[in-house]
Amino acid sequence: MDKVLFQYQEVAAVVAETRAQAEDALQLIEVDYEPLPVVVDPFKALEPDAPILREDREKKSNHIWHWESGDREETENVFRDAPVVVKQDVRFQRVHPSPLEPCGCVADYNTVTGRLTFYVTSQAPHVHRTVIAMLSGIPEHQIRVISPDIGGGFGNKVGVYPGYVIAIAASVKLGVPVKWIETRTENIASTSFARDFHMTCEIAAREDGKVLGLRVKTIADHGAFDAAANPTKFPAGLFNIVTGSYDFKAAFVEVDAVYTNKAPGGVAYRCSFRVTEAAYLIERTMDVLAQRLKIDPAELRFRNFIRKDQFPYKSPTGWVYDSGDYEKTLKLALERIGYDELRKEQAEKRARGEFMGIGISTFTEIVGGGPKNTFDILGIKMFDSAEIRIHPTGKVIARLGVRHQGQGHETTFAQIIAEELGLSADDVLIEEGDTDTAPYGLGTYASRSTPTAGAAAALCARRIREKARKIAAHLLEVGEDDVVWDGTAFSAKGLPGKSVTMKDVAFAAYTDVPEGVEPGLEATYYYDPPNLTFPHGAYIAVVDIDKGTGAVKVRRFLAVDDCGNVINPMIVEGQVHGGLTEGFAIAFMQDIPYDSNGNCLAPNWMDYLVPTALDTPHWETDRTVTPSPHHPIGAKGVGESPNVGSPAAFVNAVVDALSPLGVEHIDMPLYPWKIWEILREHGINE
Ligand code: CDP
Repeated sequence: MDKVLFQYQEVAAVVAETRAQAEDALQLIEVDYEPLPVVVDPFKALEPDAPILREDREKKSNHIWHWESGDREETENVFRDAPVVVKQDVRFQRVHPSPLEPCGCVADYNTVTGRLTFYVTSQAPHVHRTVIAMLSGIPEHQIRVISPDIGGGFGNKVGVYPGYVIAIAASVKLGVPVKWIETRTENIASTSFARDFHMTCEIAAREDGKVLGLRVKTIADHGAFDAAANPTKFPAGLFNIVTGSYDFKAAFVEVDAVYTNKAPGGVAYRCSFRVTEAAYLIERTMDVLAQRLKIDPAELRFRNFIRKDQFPYKSPTGWVYDSGDYEKTLKLALERIGYDELRKEQAEKRARGEFMGIGISTFTEIVGGGPKNTFDILGIKMFDSAEIRIHPTGKVIARLGVRHQGQGHETTFAQIIAEELGLSADDVLIEEGDTDTAPYGLGTYASRSTPTAGAAAALCARRIREKARKIAAHLLEVGEDDVVWDGTAFSAKGLPGKSVTMKDVAFAAYTDVPEGVEPGLEATYYYDPPNLTFPHGAYIAVVDIDKGTGAVKVRRFLAVDDCGNVINPMIVEGQVHGGLTEGFAIAFMQDIPYDSNGNCLAPNWMDYLVPTALDTPHWETDRTVTPSPHHPIGAKGVGESPNVGSPAAFVNAVVDALSPLGVEHIDMPLYPWKIWEILREHGINE
């Protein structure tokens, strides 16, 4: 196509021996651009006389697809008879995962062996290998993808970018290794953005606040290409988890995706494919309902939670929630934060004309994509895998199909395996990210690693334990049925004092194998999850607003998470801190706006703000534990929960602070000037 669709779209490539040479060569390229009408507003893009951006498509419109979920008719009926209906337009602005390091790669094609070694910033190395094989014609076994430590991913490094393709093509053509690395601006302005949803939410309810129906209409601004990295059957991701933690009788959700002259994407930025948008929308609108009905937002939630005894719970959009105890989690959060005292303090402050707010978010997540019947990427089912080898001295190497970007899999997966095998975690080496050695997997994003590969690791270890039991029986000189595993060693029923450890068994697996048993001690497991896992949380933010400047101070923030059984509390705590900091940035300082000519107005870290330690509030954390009934160790994912759950708590707190002025909603980011203008409109700052 000879038409550029967004600023920073790649139009030419230069390969040079040094970066300076490449920069000089770029200066010699003159692209003769002819100005065309620009469309940056997705609503305008849908107007009948809007210029068609993608003339290469058969469909002569900027509309990409329509997706819906739930029961339209039943929902209409519920709304028709409902005594109360609230409606709120909510925008989740365009943001970017903005990892510490941008995307990059080194493609090294060996013209003698025909082998491509590809070092790449990839959250899904195996899928990248398959895609490269399909596109390039290089046989898949001749491609080795290595994803080393990549400086963070957060969903930004799931896709395949033009730079990767050009580096591979250039290496094949030139027979030398070719490196491509982005600048910060290229990363923000041309690789996959996140969110950019324009949502309208309606809740039908009774006068006492009991919710009945939910209706959601969304325009998804996809930019220039439909490049959202979603499972094939879910064009709007898992957005239909939007009924959240509440027991709605009926729900109907519609999403329409639209092309505009902006960078393409719509990735799962620390989010299980559009779940952040969903959680933000429902948690925000529940507060609008609470405000209209003059019911305390905590009380409104208690009246509507899916009760503990309703699990497994089938939502009106078709998900089966595995487990949860929403009441317990919110109760703990209210108690820990001292909710009643805070409300008293707020009343006193309001009487003095001060603006203090308390915001609650009791979100439900959906992670662990996913079961093979519904989840695939490019047709490849979303299972994940583990391979474990025990060496003769009882030391273990385990390889997994996922690839962490700093989430600590070396620690937590070693713990899972060690626990199952009665070994120390120090005895287990975890390896991920090399497609020549690791079993096939779909990668790490959307908090899927623990629900999928974590489960595979546990079941793989159990498979080894079954074989170890045969060897133990031989060593203990008893029948296999008489062997008992107590978590640390095998012993023989009725023979006290006689036991063998996994280490003893490992040595015997190579030195003293019983008749009929294959030597060695290793296994592979491909895990197809029977369902997703549904972590949840109760977050509470307490804010004070400076009347003079509109600046918001987050005085306290408490996150009570429930991710089922926890493997490593310190790692979970770290995950929560990181995600909350991102959620804080989204709520208060991040946006990627475009001007009417399609210029990206925040293509760097001067304009797209990243919070420093000075900006970041102090995080308080706690947890409840509701194990997943179907996960082998009862764990649910956690990495994305704080990013998913926190924006609503911040915004709810700020709106709560300003509610005496009649404010019901403010779109993110909550820049001080926005708040200052609201205060001024109400005569506070004149
Ligand atoms: O897919 P990703 O690793 O980003 O997300 P995750 O599965 O939520 O895991 C993030 C980190 O937290 C991993 O090291 C997990 O093993 C750990 N975790 C844990 O210790 N306990 C849990 N219940 C869930 C995750």
